[in-house]
Amino acid sequence: MSLRDLPPFSDLRAFLAFLDGEGDLKRIDAPVDTVHEMTALHRRVLVADGPALRFDQAHSAGARASMPSIANLFGAQRRVAAGLGVKPERVGELGEMLAALREPAPVDGLKDALSRWPMVRAALSTRPQIVSRPPCQQICLTGADVDLARLPIQTCWPGEPAPLITWPLVITRPPDTAADDSANVNVGVYRMQSLGKDRAILRWLHHRGGAAHHRAWAARGQDMPVAVAIGADPATILAAVLPLPESLSELRFSGVLRGERPRLAAAATVPLVVPADAEIVLEGYASATETAPEGPYGDHTGYYNSVEPFPVMRITAITMRRDPLYLTTFTGRPPDEPSVIGSVFNDLALPLIRRQIPEIADIWLPPEACSYRMAVVSIRKRYPGQARRAMMALWGMLPQFNYTKTIVVVDDDIDVRSFADVAWAVATRMDPSRDLMLLSNTPIDYLDFASPESGLGGKIGIDATNKIGAETQREWGTVLKMSADVEARVDALWPRIFDAGKPS
Ligand SMILES: Cc1cc2nc3c(=O)[nH]c(=O)nc-3n(C[C@H](O)[C@H](O)[C@H](O)COP(=O)(O)O)c2cc1C
Repeated sequence: MSLRDLPPFSDLRAFLAFLDGEGDLKRIDAPVDTVHEMTALHRRVLVADGPALRFDQAHSAGARASMPSIANLFGAQRRVAAGLGVKPERVGELGEMLAALREPAPVDGLKDALSRWPMVRAALSTRPQIVSRPPCQQICLTGADVDLARLPIQTCWPGEPAPLITWPLVITRPPDTAADDSANVNVGVYRMQSLGKDRAILRWLHHRGGAAHHRAWAARGQDMPVAVAIGADPATILAAVLPLPESLSELRFSGVLRGERPRLAAAATVPLVVPADAEIVLEGYASATETAPEGPYGDHTGYYNSVEPFPVMRITAITMRRDPLYLTTFTGRPPDEPSVIGSVFNDLALPLIRRQIPEIADIWLPPEACSYRMAVVSIRKRYPGQARRAMMALWGMLPQFNYTKTIVVVDDDIDVRSFADVAWAVATRMDPSRDLMLLSNTPIDYLDFASPESGLGGKIGIDATNKIGAETQREWGTVLKMSADVEARVDALWPRIFDAGKPS
């Protein structure tokens, strides 16, 4: 299998050119305010499964933006798949490939080695190439020239305190690593509240890679070097959002997705590497001690987060391409861009989950339930109690299910993505006095204000599978099904009864 169906995209503009060719990019010449209006328009387009957006006349407080804004880049599943380099129907195969990469098996002879060629190529494509005069430093603003107001930073929702950088790729490395280290670098998307010309708040949740690096630097009393890329090739952006194991650097992994070595460059004023072809890079230091109250901002849950202190970054340089593009988005009640990305990552992660819990046939994390708070899982059930085993395996073995407070388990004749199917299974195969598993005092997303304590709450497992063996003493229902020959006869009759094919 080849890793990609599409050519590699070396930067954001190459990807936009591809989308344009597909008729999947809309240029907007009408003036649109970066305060609220851009969010309202973007939401409508996203809900309609519409194209990526390029705002050429964005403005704020009467002043026209000095560069175009790009939004809704990953607001449709087809564009997330394209960003991963594959056709939408091949995301599952890419997931198989990524799962196989995690399991290095000994090579057995030349034929076997050749059959593993995509994996060898994938391994080679993680070695970065260091570029000396990178496009992302065609313009380099330092000292008094540093001013975040040069960027068309959005204010997404009413009541928010300041403009918010919504698509920052925040690059950090642990102490005791070299300035040109790319293997230990972490890249995560952590929103950034602007605090005037040259300061911003970095809002990484406690369990994120960036937060762990910051704790390590702060423990030594040192400010941490930080670089923030805004607008990069789609593989780099999506690698930053994927929940990769801590030992795997997103910058290197982006090469696996792109099928090409990552192009990196030394940052201009901080000891870090940055994506050489990024549109804009902010460089600076996250203070070891200084924090500022962040928010309230609209979040992916559909509510405003509470105000909390997070570290302040002092910006030492803004570097950019000669004609930069500013990448932006909003987060809000699903669907938003992160929830669309999450629904594609669902299919990407399935092969790996199946390797760990083989009875699992399919999983759906409904975007409407914030993409992780609820899961519907189908299993190939063979023995009594197996639905509970699947729930416990998901909660116990896979960190991404830590905050999944509801798991519904169904049989594999149920389509986990179909509300009609799942509701039928819950209505006909589940009894609340026997089939609920309730847990208390488990880890819960601290953003979940419904839990009794912050960060600690309950979980519920709903076993909506057919009951077998000792699970029931009752005669169980038999599913109604028409015979195939009758269906075939009706197929033949149909056009004679309904001319247009539709019953009317
Ligand atoms: C648009 C967008 C905004 C996000 N905002 C935040 C944020 O403000 N804070 C945060 O901790 N995670 C945020 N995330 C999620 C993380 O970026 C994501 O989980 C990532 O995999 C974390 O990387 P890490 O595990 O290396 O820390 C956001 C994701 C997206 C797509």
